[in-house]
Amino acid sequence: MTIIVTGGAGFIGSNFIFYMLGKYSNYRVICLDRLTYAGNLSTLKQVMDHPNFRFVKADICDRDAVYQLFEQEHPDIVVNFAAESHVDRSIDQPDIFLHTNIIGTATLMDACRRYGIRRYHQVSTDEVYGDLPLDRPDLLFTEETPIRTSSPYSSSKASADLLTLAYHRTYDLPVTISRCSNNYGPYQFPEKLIPLMIVNALNDKPLPVYGKGLNVRDWLYVEDHCRAIDLILHKGHVGDIYNIGGHNEMRNIDIVKLICKHLGKSESLITYVADRKGHDMRYAIDPTKIFNELGWFPETTFADGIKKTIQWYLDNRAWWEDIISGEYQEYYAKIYGNR
Ligand code: NAD
Ligand code: TYD
Repeated sequence: MTIIVTGGAGFIGSNFIFYMLGKYSNYRVICLDRLTYAGNLSTLKQVMDHPNFRFVKADICDRDAVYQLFEQEHPDIVVNFAAESHVDRSIDQPDIFLHTNIIGTATLMDACRRYGIRRYHQVSTDEVYGDLPLDRPDLLFTEETPIRTSSPYSSSKASADLLTLAYHRTYDLPVTISRCSNNYGPYQFPEKLIPLMIVNALNDKPLPVYGKGLNVRDWLYVEDHCRAIDLILHKGHVGDIYNIGGHNEMRNIDIVKLICKHLGKSESLITYVADRKGHDMRYAIDPTKIFNELGWFPETTFADGIKKTIQWYLDNRAWWEDIISGEYQEYYAKIYGNR
């Protein structure tokens, strides 16, 4: 079995590569990644010399490069993680999100049509469903919840989902889609809530909480997400969408306070800053379908997952110190400077 993993130098894609190489000794895994600011070759250091692994630097929107790789490798499976993934950046600069997330997805699926494929899997997000009110804890996103996006990021991901379903219906492409809640764990770029707060707290810098910090996300440890995608690839129903969620809703402020507690830092570092434009209030996934059909459920509790994650950032200072010393500084000044 040969699998192309796009975006494998990023957070979830790299964890998925480690998971698959660890689990299947006879699978070949090829990582296709453009190495944007979010992609980091040092993340893949532990598998670079693995005999079943190959890294290819390319853009998923580059049709020639993508077709060339398919011609060489004839993959059985493509799992598309490659994306611009950060909501705040999409508010600042939507165009790159439309290009990578929509055109890139179509280009990959065109290659799948041309060269043949056993499965194309689109890694999507619960953000395509929009948000839920705080005062209706009974409401959850199911696979039937209508798409109702808020940000340029989620709109681009929803567009990619619609294209994926269209390629299935029109060309009979064997696709699956997963829509997952917020992930956390090792190798997450410190622009997202949990790693940003860990890194800032370790540097005794202010912890910028948007609005009142009451927004709710449903947090899932990254390895649980990887296991769910593996199950969908092997046992999932072609043409179907699977929601993946942690049954773990938490308010942002409670997460930030928990990080302070774990690191022995004062909550006085917490600084309330201007809210995100169009900020989604609450995400909550109903993962009943993937539990009933594939027997998946989250195995890592938040209490364990957050401890492991914080420990990873403590043990891997060089990884994130390198990141925050570069163009990240400009990003940080732009997003947080006048907030
Ligand atoms: P990330 O930003 O950490 O990594 C994205 C990777 O894609 C990087 O390695 C980057 O170099 C690569 N990439 C970007 N543009 C590319 C292009 N044009 N061609 C080739 N490679 C390109 O993202 P992540 O958090 O690991 O998310 C991975 C996927 O999972 C995304 O599709 C995202 O929408 C989805 N997702 C993320 C979460 C989350 O909580 N992080 C939750 C649900 C779904
Ligand atoms: P984020 O990690 O960007 O994920 P998403 O917006 O895709 O859910 O943000 C998670 C939540 O944390 C979201 O409600 C925004 C909030 N947040 C802050 O309060 N401060 C920050 O510095 C960041 C990055 C996020």
